[in-house]
This record gives sequence, structure tokens and C-alpha cells, in this order.
Amino acid sequence: MRRAVFLGCGSALPKRVLTNDELAKQVDTSDEWIRERTGITQRYVAGEGETTATLATEAARKALADAGLTIADIDLIVLGTTTPDYTFPSTATVVQAALGGHGFPAFDVAAVCTGFIYALGTAEAMIRTGLANKALVIGAETLTRLIDWEDRTTCVLFGDGAGAFVIGAGAEGDDTTGFLATQLHADGAQRELLYTDGGPSTTGTVGKMRMKGREVFRHAVTNLAQVLEDVLVKAGYTAQDIDWVVPHQANARILDATARKLGLPMSQVVVTVDQHANTSAASVPLAFDAAWRDGRIKRGQLVMLEAMGGGFTWGASLLRV
Ligand code: ACO
Repeated sequence: MRRAVFLGCGSALPKRVLTNDELAKQVDTSDEWIRERTGITQRYVAGEGETTATLATEAARKALADAGLTIADIDLIVLGTTTPDYTFPSTATVVQAALGGHGFPAFDVAAVCTGFIYALGTAEAMIRTGLANKALVIGAETLTRLIDWEDRTTCVLFGDGAGAFVIGAGAEGDDTTGFLATQLHADGAQRELLYTDGGPSTTGTVGKMRMKGREVFRHAVTNLAQVLEDVLVKAGYTAQDIDWVVPHQANARILDATARKLGLPMSQVVVTVDQHANTSAASVPLAFDAAWRDGRIKRGQLVMLEAMGGGFTWGASLLRV
């Protein structure tokens, strides 16, 4: 059997930074409340000319350069997003064209904050079964365009950005490198806890985000603890073998609680929520890229990627880099 392996990564952020203090001038909140409850100090907000596809394309270009490849080497794009440029065509095809690729499959997956893990699981399985050889896997969002800027319970939490991996077929018979185990879940019965109040087929609008934050928090900690344990068991490892956890960056308190459940110190958890806020499907590859570029994550290390989001959806993937 061949595994999919990690070949490179990249990321992109909008130009504009929005600080907590600036937000506090627009809604009834404060820097102190946001920092204490979420760990967020600022977020990046897409401006004119910046879309999910432009951010995704920039992240993909950097990932290709990091892997020493060009678009001519790629035969699959899977893009996780909940804020596509258009209802159709998919953002993956917009990125394909922007990069100068054509002919090979390119599609989006919608799993909200778990979008990147779903995209990774899909691309990794396609590589394992021989349907593709080298894939761009992208998580990209402009979630701030779904926000009700008058709702202080949600507008302080989110930001925009994109991250991308290049993954490819590993050496035949090498069972120790690459994506060792992946697990994906969904529970559609929990829709009311986190959703948008519109869509193309219901209201003809994109809607605004609505959330019961406290209940989402509780489910996130429980679901993540379970999927992390399941993935470790599936791959034949324990939490003590992990070098880094790269979690979905929703809230510093969820990251703390997850690390505690794993019995790992926060020094092994990559944290970017303070700078990026919650960028939904973009958050895992954005955080991974930050730790890859500054040399924390190294070749040969064992890295756990995990996320949970609207649906609910959740999942995790264990990677030997
Ligand atoms: N500024 C000031 N006060 C606020 C704000 C704000 N931005 N937002 C809410 N409050 C107030 C509330 O109105 C409430 O006031 P009250 O006591 O007078 O009624 C008080 O603060 C406490 O509100 P809670 O919602 O109970 O606060 P909590 O400690 O649960 O923190 C938070 C809220 C940060 C949303 C938390 O529940 C959370 O992070 N949940 C997870 C949600 C999440 O991350 N969703 C992202 C998508 S899913 C995912 O990515 C995992």
C-alpha cells in the first residue's frame, strides 16, 4: 500500500488587521473580555479585491514553491471552504484556473471549520487508491463576510485567511511516513447550535452566522477528545508520541482543554488564535504553516491535526512529516 505524504505548505492573510480595540468601537465589547474569553487579540479581514479564491491561490503558490513543484506537477485540488467566491463554479476550479492548471479534478468540500481535515482526508484517500498522485489541499475562508457585525457574541471570534498543503504519493511499502490515520465525523442533528440563517436554496441569500457559543464549546471539547483518542489507537500511537498538536484555532480555552485531555503541555500545541482568530477551514493549515516556517515542526516529527465545526463536523489526522 502507498501512503500520502506531506510535500510542502503555504499560507496567505488579508492585508487589513482589525484589533479588539477597533471592534470595541463598533459593538458593546472590550479588548479585555475578548482576550479573557477567547485569547484573540486581532484578526485579519478581507478587503476589496480579496476573496476566498485570491487568498487560496496565494497560499497554493507558496505551498508549491515550498514543495519545489509547479502546477504542472499537480493532478488534484481539494479545497475546504464555507465561503466560496460563487455558489458555482467551485472555488477549487477558480484557483485551478488562476494557477494555470487544467484538466485534472478540482472541487470544494463544505465542512465549515473541519473543512481542511475533510479535504485532507479526501485527497489522501484518493492518493492512496491511485486516483491522484500529487494534490493541492487548501483551506480558505472569508468568514467575516457571513458575520452579523452587530452580534457581539459572534463578530469578535472570526477572521479570514487561507492555508495550503501539497501532498503526494509516498514510497511503496513505507508505512511510517505521511498520513498515518485519519478519522472524520458529522452529526447533522446539532445544526441549530451553529449555522447560517440563509442559503441559495432557502432564502436566496448567504445568510448570517448564528451560534450558541457555550454549547458549541462543550461539544467541541468532548468530540475532539474522542476523535484524537480514536486516531491514535488506529495508528498505534499514544499521546506521548506526539511532537505537535495543530488544532483548529477556535478559542484558546478549547485548545487548553484539549491539551489537558491529551495530557500534553501547551508548549506542544501550535497556537495562532491570538493573531488570526477563528479562520474556519483555513485555521489548521495557517497554524501548521506558521510552525513549519519558524522551524518548530520538523521532518520526521509526529503531528496531530484536528478540527471541529458547524454541522457538527469534526475530525483528526495523524501525520509523520
Ligand atoms: N463582549 C462582551 N460581552 C459578551 C460578548 C462580547 N463580545 N459576547 C458575549 N458577551 C456576554 C454575554 O452576553 C453574557 O452576558 P450575560 O451574562 O449578561 O448574559 C456573558 O458575556 C457570558 O456569555 P457566554 O456566552 O456565557 O460566555 P462564554 O464564557 O461561554 O464565552 C464564547 C463565549 C467565547 C463564544 C465561548 O462560548 C466559545 O468560545 N464557544 C465556542 C464557540 C466557537 O468557538 N465557535 C466557533 C465555531 S465552532 C468551532 O470552531 C469549534
